[in-house]
Amino acid sequence: MITNEQFQKTYEESIKDPEKFWEQVAREEISWFKKWDKVFNWDFPNYQWFLGGKLNITFNCLDRHITAGKGDKAALTYLNEKYERITITYKELLLQVNKFANGLKSLGVKKGDKVVLYMPLVIEQAVAMLACARIGAVHSVVFAGFSANALRERIEDCQAKIVVTANWTLRRGTKKELKSTVDEAVKGLEFVENVIVLSRGSSSRSERMTLSGDKETDYHQLIQNQSDICEPEPMESEDALFVLYTSGSTGKPKGIVHTVGGYSVYTHYTTKKVFDIQDGDVYWCTADFGWITGHSYVLYGPLSNGLTSLMVEGTPDYPTPDHWYKIIEQEKVNIFYTSPTALRMLRKYGEEYPKKHNFESLRILGTVGEPINPEVWLWYKKNIGGDKLPIEDTWWQTETAGHMIVALPGLTQKPGKAGKPFYGIEADVVDEKGQSIPANEKGFLIIKKPWPSALRDCLNNHERFEKYWTEIKGVYFTGDFAIKDEDGDIQVLGRSDDVMNISGHRIGSAEVENALVSHPAVSESAVIGKPDEIKGERIKAFVVLKPEYSPSDDLIKDIKSHIKREIASMAVPDEIEFVASLPKTRSGKIMRRVLKARELGQSEGDLSVLDQ
Ligand code: WTA
Repeated sequence: MITNEQFQKTYEESIKDPEKFWEQVAREEISWFKKWDKVFNWDFPNYQWFLGGKLNITFNCLDRHITAGKGDKAALTYLNEKYERITITYKELLLQVNKFANGLKSLGVKKGDKVVLYMPLVIEQAVAMLACARIGAVHSVVFAGFSANALRERIEDCQAKIVVTANWTLRRGTKKELKSTVDEAVKGLEFVENVIVLSRGSSSRSERMTLSGDKETDYHQLIQNQSDICEPEPMESEDALFVLYTSGSTGKPKGIVHTVGGYSVYTHYTTKKVFDIQDGDVYWCTADFGWITGHSYVLYGPLSNGLTSLMVEGTPDYPTPDHWYKIIEQEKVNIFYTSPTALRMLRKYGEEYPKKHNFESLRILGTVGEPINPEVWLWYKKNIGGDKLPIEDTWWQTETAGHMIVALPGLTQKPGKAGKPFYGIEADVVDEKGQSIPANEKGFLIIKKPWPSALRDCLNNHERFEKYWTEIKGVYFTGDFAIKDEDGDIQVLGRSDDVMNISGHRIGSAEVENALVSHPAVSESAVIGKPDEIKGERIKAFVVLKPEYSPSDDLIKDIKSHIKREIASMAVPDEIEFVASLPKTRSGKIMRRVLKARELGQSEGDLSVLDQ
């Protein structure tokens, strides 16, 4: 815990000389094989951190804890909806990682090769991510809820040499097939050299996957005879660690590229400070590896700090509404980090459920992914935090890789406001010209300078990367609206671009529209996000049908399943309205903002550009 004064002092120092600040953090917190020659280089819009430095993130996440005598400590604990529990120590995890890393090498995987993971939230997925990082292969995790088409698009974009998957994932008591989705996704893709398949529950013969062709390998067979020694590849600080796809305002997801050095430093340090960690902490972040939160704050940040990180496969309220409360109690969780959507779900079931459980182990609470409603924040504080625990409302993005705006434990925290920029981060709320705007007025949230874990590129699209720094010239454009109050505390309001936030997941309006118009009956479409009590936002689609089609409930059903096939169930519109035409500018651009304003009964704003 720190005081406002202590924070202010360190923050000012960090801003006065960010290079000195981050250099000290890098030196004190991270083990390097070779020290860097230069801390920071900014050749606008490109930048690098810790140039010339060599390291491997898995050495920091695994080896160094073992050398320090913590090898027998639990690194990861897996739990599921049946309360099955698997725990793996740092020592065991390293052996598994090394075996899988050697397995990848035996398949010809080399430094820089791309490996796509399409897996359930199981320890083997953590092993696969770390094994890639061990040998310098670049992982790209695709959330296992995405469809075959969405998966294929990502595999093609990054030209993955290997895809790792499992037979099924578990959700609300049912097994969802993964392998068949991968089969469909990789069909005809010659550059995919191998699909590695984890057979879960394979102790019984009937569940063993039958693999076909010589392009498929059984996960367990692959590692069976591999050595458990694999020296960590000395990575250049600026070598890529992973690519993670996220949605933007165009129809195509962007492959956000993060590099080893800056990412290691920033995720380690934010985990340490934001969660005020103590030796022996049991830490639970409820995210999936398919999202950036799973990368930075289930895997790399917690392991780099030597914590025990929980991974829970499933949903908050299955099999019972207090499933997660039971886990907090049983596992004696000290730090609990989740999303506003999950909290809204839990809150819906009432206060009697949290009351039945003992949360004495908890010390720090956190939230991420979407704006948290003040009333939900207060509910969280009272019912899970016993009216006393700090709530870390962390604002950040796939592109930032780590926490950017947050009121650290000990600082004044206000319901619904993320708080202050983290050390070394200069944030502001500005107008479209980049001018600061007065306190308590809505504007664009920007970051003034590159920080160590800032995205380095958009895969195969450097121009898109440059746009982040040129949309408002010279600063990082977050794409969010925000308000800064008179104390400098920032409230993030939501996206300013055509990106929706459904249950904390980013979905581009254009992505859903593209999928809609690929349906044979659809001529044109426009998609907007509407407020939703649980999910934060839900999708509404306006659809113009081709003349030969007429509206019907069956057609709505068919269009919905089409979207599920094209993208994922989370992208399926809750509402589809058939309309005769869409509001457009004279140049033919569909004006989503007009539709949204009409839908929400708000002012439609300036309509002078509208072609009416
Ligand atoms: C939103 C998730 C308000 C925001 C880590 C951002 C938030 C987008 C918060 C990034 C928060 C994330 N308060 N809004 N604490 N955290 N967001 O890339 O709109 O999946 O731009 O990264 O989520 O989503 P992403």
